[in-house]
Amino acid sequence: MSLQRPCLYIHIYSLALVMILVLGTATTDVSGPPVNITAVLGHTATFKCPSQKSKIVTRLYIQKVVENRDDKFINGFDSSRKLDVLPEYQNRTKVNQTNLSMEMTDVSFSDEGLYKCVVFYGRVEPFSVIYLKVTAKYSVPTIEKQCSERKNGDGAAGKSCQLSCSSTGGYPQSAVKWAELNPSLMSVVHNESSEDPISKTWTINQTITYNCDHPINVSCAVDDAVSPTITICEAESFSVRVIIAIVLVLVFVLLLLLVLMVMKLCCRRHQPEDPRDSDDENAVPLADCHSQFKSV
Ligand SMILES: *[C@@H]1O[C@H](CO)[C@@H](O)[C@H](O)[C@H]1NC(C)=O
Ligand SMILES: *[C@@H]1O[C@H](CO)[C@@H](O)[C@H](O)[C@H]1NC(C)=O
Ligand SMILES: *[C@@H]1O[C@H](CO)[C@@H](O)[C@H](O)[C@H]1NC(C)=O
Ligand SMILES: *[C@@H]1O[C@H](CO)[C@@H](O)[C@H](O)[C@H]1NC(C)=O
Ligand SMILES: *[C@@H]1O[C@H](CO)[C@@H](O)[C@H](O)[C@H]1NC(C)=O
Ligand SMILES: *[C@@H]1O[C@H](CO)[C@@H](O)[C@H](O)[C@H]1NC(C)=O
Ligand SMILES: *[C@@H]1O[C@H](CO)[C@@H](O)[C@H](O)[C@H]1NC(C)=O
Repeated sequence: MSLQRPCLYIHIYSLALVMILVLGTATTDVSGPPVNITAVLGHTATFKCPSQKSKIVTRLYIQKVVENRDDKFINGFDSSRKLDVLPEYQNRTKVNQTNLSMEMTDVSFSDEGLYKCVVFYGRVEPFSVIYLKVTAKYSVPTIEKQCSERKNGDGAAGKSCQLSCSSTGGYPQSAVKWAELNPSLMSVVHNESSEDPISKTWTINQTITYNCDHPINVSCAVDDAVSPTITICEAESFSVRVIIAIVLVLVFVLLLLLVLMVMKLCCRRHQPEDPRDSDDENAVPLADCHSQFKSV
């Protein structure tokens, strides 16, 4: 009997230990997959912690999950004491005890990540997980074209256009999309995306060539920023043709006048040095020029 008693104590102790462990892990994940929220760089993020309406919340901790480290306390409240908030969050976060939400202003890329809401109802501490994603808006892309004539194999004339699209200041990294262009007729000649080391935002730049025979209204987009629309391969308009025709006619008329003047000058030079006419040279009509020339 004296041997069995310590055994019994061990059983009781291990049972107590298990109970403590169970109570200790009463912080239970009630959330399933994280709720995703997004905030624009420099703007405000609102974290909404789920609450069970009927129960009185004695404490709320909002924590950031840091890899390989303990969770970092951001803000919250405790009905029995004042909580210390890190200086970097003091002015940027505000907790509303009524609806268990926290506003974070002036959001930066370093705020991106996983957060935990730990809600204390007496002894139970269910927590839920929120993922904050930070975005930045891309600038309205600039679009440029450079088109030149292109001769097809079958003699039909089309155009070959080089199009550039560029946008900056966005996050996360994105890619250029072209509206109204057939991707199989498009060839990418330059594709560049670079991250600003300080602001962490991206600049996207792409140049393509595109061959076309008919007018196309084209624009490019990076994320939800869309460039103005430009027209490529437009047929030369009626007015352009008229201007070209007028210019051609004018050039023809000028050439004609030039030829006539040259002919007149020629005639004068080959005129015989006739003493009778020498002092009245300018009076010789053009028609007489030829007859006098032949008579020599
Ligand atoms: C949040 O986003 C991740 C991936 O970005 C996804 O796996 C998850 O299902 C999303 N959660 C919800 C609640 O939509
Ligand atoms: C927070 O705001 C107070 C008052 O405006 C200021 O004195 C303090 O320096 C600010 N703290 C931080 C970390 O910016
Ligand atoms: C907290 O939220 C409640 C409900 O949305 C609102 O009525 C109250 O004014 C808020 N308190 C503060 C300090 O913003
Ligand atoms: C809680 O109150 C704050 C401040 O009034 C408000 O901005 C936020 O939208 C509210 N959240 C919910 C979940 O009602
Ligand atoms: C251009 O570069 C971006 C980023 O490197 C990439 O995601 C995209 O697929 C590239 N596009 C083409 C057409 O190569
Ligand atoms: C985009 O790339 C083209 C080709 O290298 C270059 O000429 C242009 O200046 C670039 N634009 C921007 C905004 O970086
Ligand atoms: C392109 O846009 C112009 C002006 O918006 C319009 O008149 C023209 O019909 C459009 N052309 C094509 C091919 O969509």
